[in-house]
Amino acid sequence: MASEIPAIETRKLTKVYPGFWKSQNVPALTELDLTINRGEIFGLLGPNGSGKTTCIKLLLGLINATDGEARVMDKPAGDQDTRRHIGYLPEETYLYRFLNARQTLDFYARLFNMSRVQRRRAVDYYLDFVGLDPAVRSRRLGTYSKGQARRVGLAQALLNNPDLVILDEPTSGLDPIGMLEIKQMIVRLKEAGKTVLLSSHVLADVEDLCDRIVILYRGRVEIQGRVDELLQTQDAFLMEARNVPPDVQERLMVMAREAGAKDVRPGKPRTRLEDIFTQLVESKRRGEAPRMQQTIKDAR
Ligand SMILES: Nc1ncnc2c1ncn2[C@@H]1O[C@H](COP(=O)(O)OP(=O)(O)OP(=O)(O)O)[C@@H](O)[C@H]1O
Ligand SMILES: [Mg+2]
Repeated sequence: MASEIPAIETRKLTKVYPGFWKSQNVPALTELDLTINRGEIFGLLGPNGSGKTTCIKLLLGLINATDGEARVMDKPAGDQDTRRHIGYLPEETYLYRFLNARQTLDFYARLFNMSRVQRRRAVDYYLDFVGLDPAVRSRRLGTYSKGQARRVGLAQALLNNPDLVILDEPTSGLDPIGMLEIKQMIVRLKEAGKTVLLSSHVLADVEDLCDRIVILYRGRVEIQGRVDELLQTQDAFLMEARNVPPDVQERLMVMAREAGAKDVRPGKPRTRLEDIFTQLVESKRRGEAPRMQQTIKDAR
């Protein structure tokens, strides 16, 4: 079945940027094995310079791999037909300063061969979708705040109603409300059945949004897995229920204590992705080999 073919699959994907001397070569990504299923939100994490943008550019075919293979929607990365089904928000939004938001989106809609009626409908639909203030839509982009420009970039990435949406730091430059709105927007993309690949430094967002993540360090995968599994603590028990009367909650806790359970408290036994991430990066920077299981367990 077509839906069983992953949206993205890489095998030993490697990128070395050539330097003037061989000793100046930059191994930006090393033997990356990645499978991203259709319909999932996948997080690409890592400190500055760890290879996230390089990975995204390889998947889009904007740069060529040094070694290994990348397939996107069952075609080699960079395939022209496949590109029409991908929406991409680059790390930096490059837009024409002298066009306004409507003109900008209309320009891109023309590239997708949309009719006048389709264009008009799509332009306003997506500007509403990303929450761009209607008062600024007819103003030149050169005058936009960072967050406003980011929203236009996002609307442009979604304009062709893509099946796969690749977002390189979508919330950079946005205020907390803007971040929340973009987060809600990403959830709506998933609900519409789209696959989302997201690179972000905002770990709380990644934690809330992503089904699975990888954390890169110097171009190599250090941690990968399902977010709920990574954040789960091994020896803890979690029960969730609604409408449990307070006295029953109390009795359950008493029963657990009487049975020898330790640290009984209501709530969710979860670590934070932030803890896993910072511990990994700090231990790497100290030059230690990270003890992965330990890192995850201790990060309570
Ligand atoms: N065109 C290039 N030529 C040489 N080196 C490059 C080039 N582009 C990126 N690099 C290097 O490759 C490494 C990975 O860069 P990349 O932009 O993929 O990191 P990133 O994870 O996206 O970082 P950030 O969080 O800062 O966006 C870095 O060391 C960077 O300096
Ligand atoms: Mg980057």
